[in-house]
Amino acid sequence: ITRTPLIAGNWKMNLDHLQAIAFVQKLAWSLSDAKHDFGAVEVAVFPPFTDLRSVQTLVSADKLPLAFGAQDVSAHDSGAYTGEISGAFLAQLECSYVVIGHSERRTLHGETDEQVGAKVSAALKHNLVPIICVGETAEDLEEHGPSAVPVAQLRGALIGVASAADIVVAYEPVWAIGSGQAATPEQAEQVAAALRGVLAETLGEDVAAKTRILYGGSVKAANIAGFMREPNVDGALVGGASLDLDEFASIVRYQK
Ligand code: G3H
Repeated sequence: ITRTPLIAGNWKMNLDHLQAIAFVQKLAWSLSDAKHDFGAVEVAVFPPFTDLRSVQTLVSADKLPLAFGAQDVSAHDSGAYTGEISGAFLAQLECSYVVIGHSERRTLHGETDEQVGAKVSAALKHNLVPIICVGETAEDLEEHGPSAVPVAQLRGALIGVASAADIVVAYEPVWAIGSGQAATPEQAEQVAAALRGVLAETLGEDVAAKTRILYGGSVKAANIAGFMREPNVDGALVGGASLDLDEFASIVRYQK
């Protein structure tokens, strides 16, 4: 089985409506000028909710070969959940993906594995591909070693997920996020291999073999190629560097 690599740009709470439009247009031009083969490496952006409509309009009007998605989703379909956004709404905006359980949601908003699991089920119900984020803190690493916490988080997120044929997993060590201190490719590979083992156990060998596992945490143009050489790393979830057009375009073109 070959897995199409995915380079995903998580904008976090950056780029407003007008900046989003300009960025997406320029990114598409830059990649098409460089004759990027979008079939060989998939590119996706994750703007704030308020930019999704603009990005959708642009992508569909100009038929840009970019995927997009949201940074979070509600576990509920509709109702009295002030401030939440349902998977049904995201599906209407033609989102393909949704990031779930990012470490910033877990730490700043206290999201538990159980809540992450409920959101994963909600995403799948609306045909959104969940990008399930897992990763250990520096303290976890010291106490439990490299794979224990990400493995437990992934198991937790998959409980109650009946059909998870189409998911993406992102391994993001918390100590590497925004720190400039990326994991080594070997560290990323070790955890990615353990996570693929969890997928095989819980969802079966076929799903495990076709599921993409991304690495995230201080990815930039200068280190992407090392991660992509690892057999179990199928792409990257890029934060800071996804806001710099040239840097992000260079990450996408890591093979050249
Ligand atoms: O979702 C992206 C990650 O949090 C990585 O962020 O590339 O700024 O380290 P970073």
